Amino acid sequence: MLNFAIETARDAGRVLLEKFGRIETVTKKGDINLVTEADLASEALIVERIKSHFPRHAILAEEAGNAVVTGVDGGHKWVIDPLDGTTNYAHGYPCFCVTIALEHEGEIVLGVTYDPTRDELFTAEKGRGAALNGKPIRVSATDELGNALLVTGFPYDIKHREKFARHLTEFLLTSRGVRRDGSAAIDLAYVACGRFDGFWEEGLNPWDVAAGKLLIEEAGGMVSYYDGSPFSIYTPPIVASNGTIHAEMLNVLK
Ligand code: IPD
Ligand code: CA
Ligand code: CA
Repeated sequence: MLNFAIETARDAGRVLLEKFGRIETVTKKGDINLVTEADLASEALIVERIKSHFPRHAILAEEAGNAVVTGVDGGHKWVIDPLDGTTNYAHGYPCFCVTIALEHEGEIVLGVTYDPTRDELFTAEKGRGAALNGKPIRVSATDELGNALLVTGFPYDIKHREKFARHLTEFLLTSRGVRRDGSAAIDLAYVACGRFDGFWEEGLNPWDVAAGKLLIEEAGGMVSYYDGSPFSIYTPPIVASNGTIHAEMLNVLK
């Protein structure tokens, strides 16, 4: 299964790279929420692969109208974002990825996030650790918020999220810095490998966070809601960290 997900993510990443900088059609799903022909081509490739290898598995894919494409085997569900970072992609900003996770009986058991521009492949299997290009990764050892580099994302419906500005201001004042890179799946993968110490965001969808949640947990980090309770990919918001600075992050987000 892991090899299947890796191969599929790499092939979908190749599709994204081939079309990068050559996008002619950008459609709006919302005011600022875009979809390009690359999102659709990447998703078609991934969905076709899953259907031919695992015809009984369910698929939750972003561009299929935010809908569950049901298979017969409800026990296995693939959760995929064929292009995370579409706005970056449409503007030629090279920060985007393919992210694929497999849920089994309600638990994420496998996650792959592939950044084709850097050829970086993040992988995790439940109980077997996380890796970057085959080498084991760990979250950072940063032990206080004051020394932490954080990352966040601005939700598409940011106008309706008045608390977000307060959280952002407070983190800007209390951490070493806050980044906003435009791909939640890459943000989470970077927390898993220690490039970032913490991440928070409102309003994400299951496909944005499914692989990243497992990557971080398998790399020794922590993922929760703003009150510290266990996180489900189906309900935002999310806060994720190296674990050590988690309590300080929750204190800001309360
Ligand atoms: C988006 C990215 C972005 C986040 C948005 C997501 P998309 O996904 O992950 O970082 O801030 O909320 O929707 O639309 O590029 O797949
Ligand atoms: Ca996404
Ligand atoms: Ca997407």
